Amino acid sequence: MGFETVLAIETSCDDTSVALVQADGFVLNLVSANQDLAHKPFGGIVPEIASRNHTLQLLPLVELCLQGRSLSSVDGIAVTSRPGLIGSLLVGVVTAKTLALTLKKPFIGVNHLEAHILAPFLKDDDYQKPKGFDFPYVALAVSGGHSHFYKVHELARYEVIGQTVDDAAGEAFDKFAKMLGLGFPGGAKVDQLAKGGDSERFSFPRGLINSKDLNLSFSGLKTSALRLLGSMSPQKIIANQADLCASFQEAVVEVLVKKLDLAQEQSGFKNAAICGGVSANSRLRLQALEWANAKGVNLAIPPLRYCTDNAAMVGLAGVWRMSRGEFSDQSLGPSAGHNPSDFIVRP
Ligand code: KG4
Ligand code: ZN
Repeated sequence: MGFETVLAIETSCDDTSVALVQADGFVLNLVSANQDLAHKPFGGIVPEIASRNHTLQLLPLVELCLQGRSLSSVDGIAVTSRPGLIGSLLVGVVTAKTLALTLKKPFIGVNHLEAHILAPFLKDDDYQKPKGFDFPYVALAVSGGHSHFYKVHELARYEVIGQTVDDAAGEAFDKFAKMLGLGFPGGAKVDQLAKGGDSERFSFPRGLINSKDLNLSFSGLKTSALRLLGSMSPQKIIANQADLCASFQEAVVEVLVKKLDLAQEQSGFKNAAICGGVSANSRLRLQALEWANAKGVNLAIPPLRYCTDNAAMVGLAGVWRMSRGEFSDQSLGPSAGHNPSDFIVRP
């Protein structure tokens, strides 16, 4: 059977998202609901609250996404089944399995990171990948939980070539935002405030920037920020907020771009991609595009709607896998980690 259109569900963390995606990557519809307000008072994601909100939001979003289309018109269902918060994943997986069973449609559980990595191939009326961008490419996946480099050889063959040894880049942004009292998640706020700031005003460490491997480290940066803010009065912090954000952001971005360059050199690939929530960062986008232009690298950075957690990327990974005959069955359960076959990890 041919797969033309799939319904996709993403509930791995705190965003509930549903999409209708075609096999050529075209996104017919994408609807999402975030839960930022529900978690804000706790300064981080509370798993129990996340899963409860998914149960409330998911079915109305499915209905909204269909826009009057009948459910039976979809050719299959894709759902994020790993990695993530178990309770959150469970809501999506059980819903997908129930829909598949009642509609008698095939379905598949998708790895959330694979979905992020493939996001550059999504398209809609306003976005399509840069001309010539294709497999193989190096991918930098930067989100709240991941800062990883991959060699993306082809569909279903992804090799981990580097990762953070401590915090993820998004985590570093969020912790810094918390120190400044900007709320959670604060990466986008740091980005916003940094626009009016001087990035050379404060000096922050660039962890592992000169190491010849593709490891990243952001814990020294976090400690340094904590120390600096501890030495400043609350008034002084507020008066210098923009410069603090710009300087902190520059430290993260400089390391990410330098290591992306190293990853590209080592791989020899002419294509590169940046994905995950932190790729929404305006400074990272600018610096990475400048790097790519100077190096003649074909760089894809999907638009924000496909960078932060969304079901469209899950639909694409799912429809491509189902098109080559891969399916899940009703024994599928959520998993907090990866499956051993998801990624090639060399010792
Ligand atoms: O991929 P994502 O939506 O969810 C996870 O799977 O983690 O990424 C969320 C992360 C958060 O840490 C958030 O602060 C960060 O992405 N983020 C940003 C920006 N927008 C979102 N970090 C820096 N600058 C931004 N503009
Ligand atoms: Zn994500």
